[in-house]
Amino acid sequence: MAMSRLAFALSVSAVAGAAASARSVSAQETLGSLARKRGVYVGAAVGGAFWGGDARYRETLKREFNIMVAENAMKFDQVEPKRNQFSWKQADDLAAFAQANGMALRGHNLVWHQSSGWIEAATGMERADMLTALKTHIDSVVGRYRGRILEWDVVNEAVDDNAGLRNTFWRQRIGDDYLDSAFTWAHKADPAALLFYNDYSGEGMGGKSDRIYALMKGMKDRGVPIHGVGLQCHFAASKSFSATDIDKNMKRLGALGLRVSITELDFRVTLPADSAGLAIQRDNYALLLNACLANPNCKSFLTWGFTDAYSWVPGFFPGTGDALPFDKDYKPKPAYDGMKRVLADVTAIRNRNGPGRGALRAAGAALGGIRNALGRWLGLAD
Ligand code: G3I
Repeated sequence: MAMSRLAFALSVSAVAGAAASARSVSAQETLGSLARKRGVYVGAAVGGAFWGGDARYRETLKREFNIMVAENAMKFDQVEPKRNQFSWKQADDLAAFAQANGMALRGHNLVWHQSSGWIEAATGMERADMLTALKTHIDSVVGRYRGRILEWDVVNEAVDDNAGLRNTFWRQRIGDDYLDSAFTWAHKADPAALLFYNDYSGEGMGGKSDRIYALMKGMKDRGVPIHGVGLQCHFAASKSFSATDIDKNMKRLGALGLRVSITELDFRVTLPADSAGLAIQRDNYALLLNACLANPNCKSFLTWGFTDAYSWVPGFFPGTGDALPFDKDYKPKPAYDGMKRVLADVTAIRNRNGPGRGALRAAGAALGGIRNALGRWLGLAD
């Protein structure tokens, strides 16, 4: 997965160079307005702060994005806290907000080994009862939002870090066919929703993404209704990643007839964040968005939260944070500008020049990027 420092710097700067070559992006444009022009969705996960007193949270959300997802409000333990007793308030609030503001909605998630409440605790449940309970859950949740969810994360994180099928309570009590059943029931409950398998550490090429690929291929071969793979992208400045590998993975999944979505991007830096860390973060946001735009099967690009004021990262990875495109005061960070410029540049190439001149322009920008990268490598630039 890792790439050499030079290759990484070159590819990062090729994108940064391409972005820098764009005419300045109008201040009137937002991520969402640019995404609409490009025919894609750019959005964020919405957490508990949605119901808090800070008006800037909802204002930023509706101003900047054209898709959103519930960080927690649609999880098993949230919508079905007791068997057959559903609690819709928060999920309904989010669905209504999305609809009122012309935003698409992702659903997250139906089957996971975490945040599953009573069903995980019911250790004595046999296969038949588990299947009944799972079907009821999926019918109820997917049915309630039928026609309103663009993409559902049906199964979340079913492959473990050693690239085997994770031995979750679902697998132990039902067997491996729980995956096929979940997708089949979700499709029946909302035939228009695009159904996704969602996972982390399988974004590029490697053992875990090979296993996910094999799982997807098996499902496609069996005729299971699956439409895409969510690449979570919880990344860190301290670890390099290969945008080339992510591009390859997007393409091989595309060849299976599957979409890919960037579903949970955050890019944590060491705290306190300095300008170098924020510049690396900007370049990686730009690289990933560029990879998504370059692949026609990638239509959705979401970050896991949007303001550094509210993020799971500092609690989970102490000493790191500031992983999102807006700072704690909702001011746009370099990562935000990097995303905007990538969106605007691609839009400009398509709108103004057509594909031929666009390719030439991209090649020129890449050369400029290489020059900048070498300058940076030699310590001639920041
Ligand atoms: O539900 C209780 C709530 O009643 C209580 O007031 C609150 C106070 O501590 O705790 C609440 O639950 C917490 C919930 O977040 C809401 O804040 C859970 O304990 C906590 O485990 C939960 O963490 C979430 C985690 O998934 C587990 O569901 C994180 O916010 C959320 O960011 C994280 O998201 C996951 C994705 O779903 C899947 N991919 C990885 C990603 C990051 O871990």
